Amino acid sequence: MSTQRPLKLGAMVHGVGHGWGEWRHPQALPNASTDFGFYKHQTLLAEGAKFDFVFIADSLHIHEKSSPHYLNRFEPLTILSALAALTSNIGLVATVTVSYTEPYQVARQFASLDHISGGRAGWNVVTSWLSGTADNFGKSEHPPHAQRYRIAKEHVAVVKGLWDSWEDDAFTYDKRTGEFFAPGKLHTLAHKGEFFSVKGPLNIARSRQGQPAIFQAGTSEDGRNFAAENADAIFVSPENFEEARAYYQDLKRRANGFGRDAAHLSILPGIRPIVGRDEAEVEDRYQQAVSLVSIEDAIVALGRPFNDHDFSQYPLDAPFPELGDLGANSQKGGSDRIKQLARDEGLTLREVALRFSRPRRDFVGTPEQVADALQAWFENGAADGFIINSLLPDGLQYFTELVVPVLQRRGLFRSAYSGHTLRDNLGLPVPTNRYAQAPLATETTREAVA
Ligand SMILES: Cc1cc2nc3c(=O)[nH]c(=O)nc-3n(C[C@H](O)[C@H](O)[C@H](O)COP(=O)(O)O)c2cc1C
Repeated sequence: MSTQRPLKLGAMVHGVGHGWGEWRHPQALPNASTDFGFYKHQTLLAEGAKFDFVFIADSLHIHEKSSPHYLNRFEPLTILSALAALTSNIGLVATVTVSYTEPYQVARQFASLDHISGGRAGWNVVTSWLSGTADNFGKSEHPPHAQRYRIAKEHVAVVKGLWDSWEDDAFTYDKRTGEFFAPGKLHTLAHKGEFFSVKGPLNIARSRQGQPAIFQAGTSEDGRNFAAENADAIFVSPENFEEARAYYQDLKRRANGFGRDAAHLSILPGIRPIVGRDEAEVEDRYQQAVSLVSIEDAIVALGRPFNDHDFSQYPLDAPFPELGDLGANSQKGGSDRIKQLARDEGLTLREVALRFSRPRRDFVGTPEQVADALQAWFENGAADGFIINSLLPDGLQYFTELVVPVLQRRGLFRSAYSGHTLRDNLGLPVPTNRYAQAPLATETTREAVA
């Protein structure tokens, strides 16, 4: 490849799609979100095209107006464990929330996936924006936005601490002496913090990649700081090139501020490309995607970053309603941006809803045109790579068969895997076990083996 900095590509495998209408496409499998064959096919397409990873999103609360994919779908770690057995190089990234889980459990689940897959696990850390989640977990209230990020910081620190419970050469398996592990290489975290109390150690060793890679998608001030400090890769959903570039520069600067090498933080905008072999097919496929978005569905979708607010109560063609603080405890970054755009451009509710639901034009085109757009973002400081969402049922197939070869010809994207782990794919070092450098056994170590 001609570049020192290879482009990264992830595939978001998302069953029947993001919106309310995709399942109605004539070629769509209406039960794709719980069809193992669908997940297998998409993942093998992505691995065949040498993608860095597949990503399974998640959340933990539904109601009658949730989109079809949310209503009936797989739990991410379960489906990725099954996919691990069918693949050998592609990274396997799952969303798991910090607001409704215990770090010990999360550390153990991801470490297990990491072993099953030979070091290909990644954790997309989310704080959960849907307040109804509290009702499913016996909580009296959904933690406020700022608190969720404090929880996230502590949760992730505990998980990473647990992942280092065993030094890499801890298990000696000496049948002659009967020593199963070297006692000095087992470490007890003994964490007591604001939200969690976890003694440890974890009951599983580190994997081939040391620790699973951390993904995040912070948009708000707190979210950005959390991502810049903790993430190996960041998902973002920018409106346009300028916004993507500003976000990219900001997150790299913040990462430097946390004393990190910004090259080890990949910023990956989520995009929804529509590809056709020629102009006529591009337009036909674009119109197919547009026809899947009704104004009624767009109004429901608009409510999502506002904790599923009901926008159908407002007149469609009046100016976008004044919402005050609404959304601040939900997807803060996303809801702030919608309010800002409506204000800046003086849009009506209908215009705002369609703007955020209809496919955009920026990654729509022939294979060369889509590759040009990806390359422009990649080479001009707006992205280290992309996470590909498909609007049409065969969207990933079109992308892998038509756009990836162009990227490969241009030397932007790999034609073969050069490593085996997700960290290898993303160009990330294996993190050193925090205890491996300590010259002497600590108090907690001695306590652990006593
Ligand atoms: C590509 C992408 C994927 C995301 N996947 C999830 C997900 O699976 N579950 C979830 O709760 N949030 C997901 N989010 C939303 C973020 O977790 C976060 O709530 C959002 O970016 C708002 O940022 P904030 O928390 O800083 O306000 C995703 C965001 C992006 C851009």
